[in-house]
Amino acid sequence: MMTNLIKNTFLILLSLILFISCNEKKKEETVKIINDKAIADENQTSDWLAYGRTHNERRFSPLEDVSVSNVANLKVDWFIDLPNDVGLVSTPLVVNGVLYFTGTMNVIRAVDATSGKLIWTFDPKVREAIKGKRQVGWAHSRGISFYEGKIFTATWDGRLIGIDAKTGKEIWTAVTFDPNRSLNITGAPKAFKGKVLIGNGGSENGPARGVVTCYDAETGKELWKFFVVPGNPVDGFENEAMEMAAKTWNGEWWKNGGGGNAWHGFTYDADLDVLYFGTGNGGPWNPRIRSPKVDDNLFLCSIVAVKPDTGEYLWHYQTTPGEAWDYNSTMDIVLADLKIKGEDVKAILHAPKNGFFYVINRETGKLISAEPFTEVTWASHIDLKTGRPVLVDGARYDKGPIDIAPDSWGGHSWHAMAYSPQSGLVYIPTLHKADKYSDEGVVYEGWESKEFSGGIGVGLSPADKQLSDHPSSLEAIDPITQEHVWSIPQDDFWNAGILTTGGNLVLQGRSDGKLLAYNAKTGKIVWTFDTGLGISAPPITYKVNGRQYISLLVGFGGGYARGGLDAYNLGWSYRTHTRRLITFSLEGTVDLPALPPRHFPKPIVDTNFKIDKDKATKGMNEYWKCFICHGDNMFSGGMAPDLRASPIALNKEALIAVVRNGAKNTMGMPSFPDMTDEQLENLMHFIRKRAKETLPDYEESIKNNAVKKQN
Ligand code: HEC
Repeated sequence: MMTNLIKNTFLILLSLILFISCNEKKKEETVKIINDKAIADENQTSDWLAYGRTHNERRFSPLEDVSVSNVANLKVDWFIDLPNDVGLVSTPLVVNGVLYFTGTMNVIRAVDATSGKLIWTFDPKVREAIKGKRQVGWAHSRGISFYEGKIFTATWDGRLIGIDAKTGKEIWTAVTFDPNRSLNITGAPKAFKGKVLIGNGGSENGPARGVVTCYDAETGKELWKFFVVPGNPVDGFENEAMEMAAKTWNGEWWKNGGGGNAWHGFTYDADLDVLYFGTGNGGPWNPRIRSPKVDDNLFLCSIVAVKPDTGEYLWHYQTTPGEAWDYNSTMDIVLADLKIKGEDVKAILHAPKNGFFYVINRETGKLISAEPFTEVTWASHIDLKTGRPVLVDGARYDKGPIDIAPDSWGGHSWHAMAYSPQSGLVYIPTLHKADKYSDEGVVYEGWESKEFSGGIGVGLSPADKQLSDHPSSLEAIDPITQEHVWSIPQDDFWNAGILTTGGNLVLQGRSDGKLLAYNAKTGKIVWTFDTGLGISAPPITYKVNGRQYISLLVGFGGGYARGGLDAYNLGWSYRTHTRRLITFSLEGTVDLPALPPRHFPKPIVDTNFKIDKDKATKGMNEYWKCFICHGDNMFSGGMAPDLRASPIALNKEALIAVVRNGAKNTMGMPSFPDMTDEQLENLMHFIRKRAKETLPDYEESIKNNAVKKQN
């Protein structure tokens, strides 16, 4: 009896242990390991594993439950309010039913992908790290990456952090540059092969020498570095590639850094085991300051291919030799397998700022085709034999001021483009603006770039004539023929990135707050949803428990959001509209609470304040320290308060507390401890002057908005 009881208990215990361990095993099996094989898998649809969904960066998902025929029934499934966020530009990731996203100041949240329920928050305390130091803009980050249970984020102040995806706890931190340098990071780090790659921005802010650095994903240990431009030859070259690049420079370029900062396009080619990165514009933009006898200046404005394990140079393709217009090539590097003239081609698709759409053979680095996708006036065409642009006479403003298209926003910026292997088309959020470039009044002798007071070495003003009657468009281009299959003109500038799906859909949010779905083949609008706030981030899609979701961050942001009259006129003023993460599905039933209407801060005209013209002019020269956040010509685009409407700017003590003593440091307002009473006084006069002279602009904005509402 007794022995039987022991035996039975033993058997029960044994089966219990077996049952538990079996279940554990099952659980482990369903939790996929996110390695290169998983990230490269184009057919997997439940997750969104990398910035552009897979290693190919196509932003195409084969999911077809939501399609052109039923997208009209798309509804909000869940949403979360993000009251502390400002500009939102990032692509969320979805891994095993958890959605991860980065918001303003690099705060990362993990939420249940089916409900939005918060799992954890990781705050790298960027506001503290930038206190009083980082007088450069960009509270934004475009994304994070995931590899084998870890999340990687790169902060504004230059830290790269590895985080445990389960707990949200930091595992390691690597400092990628000296935080006192006028550099910044807005890009998503690229995780691949147990490594993480990151670069930085800052070509305009000080003497910057572009570089990408690769770290070990497990430990954060630095593995290798690749400089974009050569340093002072006297110090010796880091590698043969730098020695080769130095032959395309002259003068003392290293004194101003040279530029080339790689701040966005990083792509790992799992097929060929090659890493590509796009490089930035020159520092300064004016090539005759950078390197007096204008030459190619490698590797500015290029795609560079390197060995992923060592960073060893393989090949490069320079889109804009002797760059003079801020035409960085940091835009998306999309991998596509095309059949061109009967041959299988492993291609790179790339639409940099310079306005040409490039199809490049990624096995050789050789150009296949390049045609303008927007108005282009700096070059007549790209010579397919040499792969080089043929410049228009005087394009580098060497024969006087000249109108140039695209302008420095580019024909396409960082807003994600997409490629659908199903429709065979590339979808590019396209910009159409021209600017006048001039070096009149630029003092070449002794020109110097200093930390936090860099400069571009060229004057910009509006072009005499815009070549397009719409500032933006969505272009659908066949990469095999370069034919524009369809094109949608758009009224506002700075529309967001693209998602394309197996349901024959293209989705894009716009700066006017609308999210639209198009028929991917024809461009016909099949669905519109008004989120009530400017959109700057691209949508993603994923499938959990049999339901397809489409998810998107809403909150106007990015460089253009800093201001200027057109950005001000969008009405997304600072902290008026709550930022959101909105997720849609066909089964959704949620009604989104409305946001406040567009708001235009009213300039305060203080009749008691006697504006001193001289002081105001001096104040204007101080304002260049502020415009990157408070807006061009003091029209705020919503990234910081509009100073013309600020009561603080009316009161000297309050202004001193905020600007000199850092009272609003923790809110992202840097401090300027060296600013004298006189400088602050001058700023006050300039602010009052701008308030007075722009009151008619405000009245115009109100009138135009009323007309818009009626229509
Ligand atoms: C890196 C971006 C950035 C720069 C550069 C910057 N500011 Fe700010 N500023 C902000 C932000 C963000 C706030 C809002 C903080 C908050 O939420 O209260 C702010 C707030 C202010 C305010 C308070 C406005 C109000 O009514 O609440 C004043 C005044 C101000 N800034 C003046 C300046 C001046 C003058 C300069 C240049 C010398 C400058 N700022 C440079 C980002 C910036």
